[in-house]
Amino acid sequence: MGFVPGHRGPRISTDHDGVGGGVLTPSKKRWPNLMPFFVTIVVVAEIVFLGLLDVPEKVAMVHTWTSSFYSSASTVSSTVSHSSLRSAASVLPLPTEVYDSSGANNNDEIENCKEWLEKKDAVTYSRDFRNEPVWVSGLEKEWKNCAVRCSFASDYQSQKKPDATFGLPQERGIAGVLRSMESSHYYPGNNIDRARREGYNVVMTTSLSSDVPVGYFSWTEYDIMAPLQPKTEKALAAAFISNCGAHNFRLQALEGLEKSNIKIDSYGGCHRNRNGHVDKVEALKHYKFSLAFENSNEEDYVTEKFFQSLVAGSVPVVVGAPNIQEFAPSPGSVLHIKELSDVPSVAKTMKYLAENADAYNQSQGWKYEGPSDSFKALVDMAAVHSSCRLCIHLATKIQASEEKNQTRPCKCIRGSETVYHIYVRERGRFEMDSIFLRSSKLTLAALESAVLTKFNSVNHIPVWKEERPESIRGGDELKIYRIYPVGLTQRQALYTFRFNGDGDLRNYVERNLCAKFEVIFV
Ligand SMILES: *[C@@H]1O[C@H](CO)[C@@H](O)[C@H](O)[C@H]1NC(C)=O
Ligand SMILES: *[C@@H]1O[C@H](CO)[C@@H](O)[C@H](O)[C@H]1NC(C)=O
Repeated sequence: MGFVPGHRGPRISTDHDGVGGGVLTPSKKRWPNLMPFFVTIVVVAEIVFLGLLDVPEKVAMVHTWTSSFYSSASTVSSTVSHSSLRSAASVLPLPTEVYDSSGANNNDEIENCKEWLEKKDAVTYSRDFRNEPVWVSGLEKEWKNCAVRCSFASDYQSQKKPDATFGLPQERGIAGVLRSMESSHYYPGNNIDRARREGYNVVMTTSLSSDVPVGYFSWTEYDIMAPLQPKTEKALAAAFISNCGAHNFRLQALEGLEKSNIKIDSYGGCHRNRNGHVDKVEALKHYKFSLAFENSNEEDYVTEKFFQSLVAGSVPVVVGAPNIQEFAPSPGSVLHIKELSDVPSVAKTMKYLAENADAYNQSQGWKYEGPSDSFKALVDMAAVHSSCRLCIHLATKIQASEEKNQTRPCKCIRGSETVYHIYVRERGRFEMDSIFLRSSKLTLAALESAVLTKFNSVNHIPVWKEERPESIRGGDELKIYRIYPVGLTQRQALYTFRFNGDGDLRNYVERNLCAKFEVIFV
């Protein structure tokens, strides 16, 4: 489900306009007035059927909702043949041309479906994480304030062995976790495919395609909304590059800019012309540009060099991640030297911005108006510590493996209407909440509406609320940025995955019973 900031597509809106109503709004479609009659048949059928045969529990379960719902039904017909009862019970074929005059019961029926599904789809897990926390050995710590109980103690009394361990596991049944913030261009072992081949079960790197990304970005590490300071330095740009050597062309880019007559103050070991004993961020605040040159050009590898430039309000000129624009706080706020041949044009842009106060100010507009939703959604990920996200990841896998063994109805058929049971949670949380979508309104708008209704009904507070700078926290209203199936990577969730229209969502929900979704609020 895509919510592109500023994009006003016909189907998807970032604003909750209260229209559409999703699952909670009564459908305008009226119901056949023969319904009570057929439902009675089903109930009778079930009674007769169960009486005659030793029905397996599974089969009985699928139809029990009718009996619990219509337990007060008094009309009994004994004239229906056995075989027709069974088909009636499974599909409830109804003459669709006949409609109820009032349709008053429709909503009650749907409500009862929901209640029944809540009960029948509930899974009793063999493990309660409150008593037996997710245990990752290797860190001497119990992780407080995590949505799932999460212990990093080296030994935990009530369990025989940890769920996971940092490094390659020595025993079966223990997940091996690779955690590193280094670029795979320097540490080839951090390449996700290679790590999996070597036997790691959970990969945590700066790559947003890893299982649990560990990025440099964070609201608490970097005072990203710090106010702008006057650009008092004569040199156009500052550089803090500790050594000239790198697995990319950063040295040549530095020299190229100098040749293009960009005056650069260099505080690091590489081409130093200023005394390096300064507070880096404070020094950067007085330069129009900051050379955020990484040591390798790897996707998602974006380090403190970049985020410190944002804090300082010094426009980053980047050599590094090919997708650096995905990390930009707003369009036009970051200059990117993709390849060496870009140097002259980037130098030209720097000169232009330096000489045109309004244009330069515009490139920093996000400091006044706040960063884009896409930037907020990215940095908000770090509001939940990566160790906690690791525990949520593991607990989710543990529960999913138990769910595989369960037979659950996950949907409830009322005549031509099917009610689908769907689960949803906020990114960074663990527990799932139920929502319901009706086959007659299985749309992206209905999904969004159902999610908002659910989270608003419990006055949900987004997990990032306390972490984000106050000026960009927004009000109390919830705004959806993305909804995506649980299990997608953050790269997919934030940038590449979209339900391709209502039909795509319908397919997904029909094929993935009890589908689980994660929501990112902005
Ligand atoms: C820069 O732009 C912001 C709006 O984005 C405006 O409030 C501010 O006054 C501008 N500053 C200058 C010096 O033009
Ligand atoms: C699922 O059921 C199988 C067979 O009954 C059993 O061996 C397995 O341990 C069960 N798995 C879980 C996670 O309960």
